[in-house]
Amino acid sequence: MVSARDTQAALPLPAIAADMPLLDHGIDARRLGQFDRRDGLLARNTRLQPGDTLAIKVWRSGLDGGPPSWAAFDVPYRKAMRVLDALIFIAENRASDLAFRWYCGSKMCGTCAVRVNGREVLACWEAVEPAMTIEPLRNLAVIRDLVVDRVPFERRVEGFEPWLERAAPYAGFPEPLSHMDMANASKALDCIGCMACYSACPVVGLGDLTDFAGPAPLVQFAQTALDPRNDARKVARLLATSGIFNCVSCYKCEEACPAAIPIVSRVIEPLKARAAVLAPRMAHHALALRAVVALRGRVDPGELMLRVQGLRALGRLRRLARFLWRGKIKPLATLLRRRNAATAAAGRILGDKGGTQ
Ligand code: SF4
Ligand code: SF4
Ligand code: FES
Repeated sequence: MVSARDTQAALPLPAIAADMPLLDHGIDARRLGQFDRRDGLLARNTRLQPGDTLAIKVWRSGLDGGPPSWAAFDVPYRKAMRVLDALIFIAENRASDLAFRWYCGSKMCGTCAVRVNGREVLACWEAVEPAMTIEPLRNLAVIRDLVVDRVPFERRVEGFEPWLERAAPYAGFPEPLSHMDMANASKALDCIGCMACYSACPVVGLGDLTDFAGPAPLVQFAQTALDPRNDARKVARLLATSGIFNCVSCYKCEEACPAAIPIVSRVIEPLKARAAVLAPRMAHHALALRAVVALRGRVDPGELMLRVQGLRALGRLRRLARFLWRGKIKPLATLLRRRNAATAAAGRILGDKGGTQ
């Protein structure tokens, strides 16, 4: 099943000169996979010559009721070849029943995301490698071969009611909004819904063990949740369903994002900050951590446990004994509220808000 535009495979590939001038989008290109790495397909294909053979293994779901397996294909390299070109070659010449999705062929529609050599990429934007494994995105059910079920993602986005409900009547054009007011929401608007971040997220990978919405739905949510015109009561109600504090800030999503969206710093963290103001009970753990650091200049696990779990923490004796044995908690230091050299600085930086818990 090759989706729309199979005919495009016959068209010449866009010529991209190896010495193409560097683009400057003000993005930290050191982050893997975040941007075009400031080079073109030719520059990324220097190890290959037209006519070389690519050794490609494609993950195929069980056909005719059989188990899933890797199917190996030899594909002749063409100048400036993308992963999508290799898939189209396979579908046209080796396995006409291979299923994969694509539409725009130019990093706009977000439908072609797959994992290549264990990394989430857009097939239409990624240069081929001499040897590649190509598999479907993780954390989503596979419909067939490389095609995943996007319905759970779309339902989650729909559940976030991604439209504006104004708290105040429309003020007329132009709206009194500054660039800073919209800085985070407008970053989120760059999302092409490819789900690469969702596949890369280890917390989403926990499945039913977590209620975390995952990075891709949260980026969509942020487009309106971080818009100051949106009704704060609505945002608070929806934040309560997001599981946002389950994010562990590992940055895997940012590394995978082909649209270079700073997902953690411009989406997740601002959403957490908004939740801390609009729904402080959700942010109980984060606020307790802040309070402990402000008070002591460091994390004191014993005090953090007490603040988060209260006296329930004392009821879990086996766990307490394990923590004591491993030196994770030090009751004496906790009781004596030992301060250190960083205490004054932490208190100054975090202010009296740190001590409110
Ligand atoms: S930073 Fe948060 S959202 Fe991103 S991959 Fe890690 S846990 Fe998932
Ligand atoms: S945030 Fe980036 S990786 Fe995630 S869906 Fe949007 S464009 Fe894709
Ligand atoms: S085909 Fe549209 S983003 Fe790749």
